[in-house]
Amino acid sequence: MKKIKKAILPVAGFGTRFLPATKAQPKEMLPIVDKPVIQYLVEEAVASGIEEIIFVTGRGKRAIEDHFDTSYELERTLVEKDKHDLLDAVRKISGLARFSYVRQPEPLGDGHAILCARHLVHPDESVAVLFGDDIIDGKTPAIKQLIDVYEKYTDPVIALCTVPEEEVHRFGVVDPVKIDERLFEIRKFVEKPKTEDAPSNLIAVGKYIITPEVFDKLEESINDKGEIRLANAFVRMIECDRPIYGYQVEGTRYDCGDKLGFVQATIQMGLKHPEIKDRLKQYLKSLK
Ligand code: UTP
Repeated sequence: MKKIKKAILPVAGFGTRFLPATKAQPKEMLPIVDKPVIQYLVEEAVASGIEEIIFVTGRGKRAIEDHFDTSYELERTLVEKDKHDLLDAVRKISGLARFSYVRQPEPLGDGHAILCARHLVHPDESVAVLFGDDIIDGKTPAIKQLIDVYEKYTDPVIALCTVPEEEVHRFGVVDPVKIDERLFEIRKFVEKPKTEDAPSNLIAVGKYIITPEVFDKLEESINDKGEIRLANAFVRMIECDRPIYGYQVEGTRYDCGDKLGFVQATIQMGLKHPEIKDRLKQYLKSLK
């Protein structure tokens, strides 16, 4: 079994839930305190052993490429001004991993975006996939938790989190069969069910390990509008009696693609940030 060393990060979506902020800038570049959301995700992947990051980008996403590139002029200015801490923070970014970029010519779905990167993946290689929204703050990086499951079972793994029952109607919910602590085999996916129809309160969050078989199923999952969704490829896997595992990841999840989740992440990360944590705590206490 090949070790998982590559991650695909599809970032070609429009980010409509954050308009107008995302009219002229990628939603992935919105900062949580002083770091863009996408950097949290890349750092999560790198801390999980990933060495190559493949971004699937689209129109208006150039800022992501610039962020992970070296910035010669900025670095020179920081050297001249003796700002060594900032210089280290800036330099570190481009050295995090090897970065590649592919374009998705049209936003034809998250699965279509993943397929745009297929030629950069070896035919028998499994890869991590991280969507742009979910930051999971925990002791072990979420992708590492999924890789550990993959290394045991060598089948696709999906990150799961629980949500309160009254919120299931906003998410893709799974029908799980428990096989171990936090580990499930997935029997069914139910998209945005009514509370009374939901098979569980476990939702799929945007982190996955996908195998070559999932790439094949993606190719078969094209709908009549030319769109391809990753969730449909998983449905086809289940129809073919192929196992898909779900792992309830440890850590606190922030849905940064949602306005409230984004503000919550900002507050929590702010409360950990050495420069502002004490003043932020005081400020929050002062609120009635
Ligand atoms: P989302 O469903 O969150 O869509 O995509 P979005 O465009 O990012 O955000 P909203 O819902 O409009 O506010 C899940 C992931 O798949 C990527 C997105 O960039 C995100 O990381 N994606 C989606 C693509 O790369 N291409 C697509 O055609 C669709």
